[in-house]
Amino acid sequence: MEEDRETELSISRINKRIVILDTVCSTNDYAKKLVASGSLEDFIIFAFEQTAGGGRYGREWTSPRGGAWFSLVLTIPDIRYASALLFKSALAVSDAIRMKEVKTQIRWPNDIMICGKKVSGCLLETVKGNDGEIRAVIGIGVNVNINEDILKEAGLYETATSLMIETGEEHDILDLMYAVVSITINYFEKSLLLSTDEINKINSVLYKKGEHVTLTINSNKICGICTGLSEDGLISIIDENDNIFSYSHSEVTAFR
Ligand code: BTN
Repeated sequence: MEEDRETELSISRINKRIVILDTVCSTNDYAKKLVASGSLEDFIIFAFEQTAGGGRYGREWTSPRGGAWFSLVLTIPDIRYASALLFKSALAVSDAIRMKEVKTQIRWPNDIMICGKKVSGCLLETVKGNDGEIRAVIGIGVNVNINEDILKEAGLYETATSLMIETGEEHDILDLMYAVVSITINYFEKSLLLSTDEINKINSVLYKKGEHVTLTINSNKICGICTGLSEDGLISIIDENDNIFSYSHSEVTAFR
């Protein structure tokens, strides 16, 4: 397919330092420390295992060997470009997995799903460097070669999956990381905000688009039909009285 060819051509443009670690507490924390200690360039931290991986809202992120756990650090000119990067990185993970002929969906804002189970999540944090520049730390975790037993032990088997489980074969973890990073950088270099093409792409793979969803906002449940992602990255739902409401990812703690 033409689209896949374009995606493949975009891989190879990583012109950034990549630090590959065996074990680390969290690649995001490691990256933030490097920025705080004066690192001025953009870079990537990858680890084969994390001992204290973190997810959104301070949740624990199970990160044993067999997964791709990495953080991409990119300098952004303004904090307002951060959330576009979160969506671009989720789209990049989805694209990279689709290149393996596996059908993915994006559960807004940052979960990548296969057959209704989560295979990957993205966590975006920002940190100011010594030079005053804002750096986006995009933490990405992909369950690549994680087996059922590990997911069962972690109590995740009902809700999570891995590429290996879905395809019945092992995948090259570093290759997947390179693909995700280069596609993310490609999206980032094309535009700081979400382009119409990116929004359309996300909407075409959006989990539960056109279906009934429940959003959790400050412990309140909001129900309606999900109509999709708008240009500013907000999710829109329409209630039974045809009222349309839009929400930002920073206020929604769950989308089911
Ligand atoms: C989520 O779905 O809640 C986001 C999960 C993000 C996990 C990744 S793994 C690499 C990076 N380091 C971390 O500690 N977290 C992110």
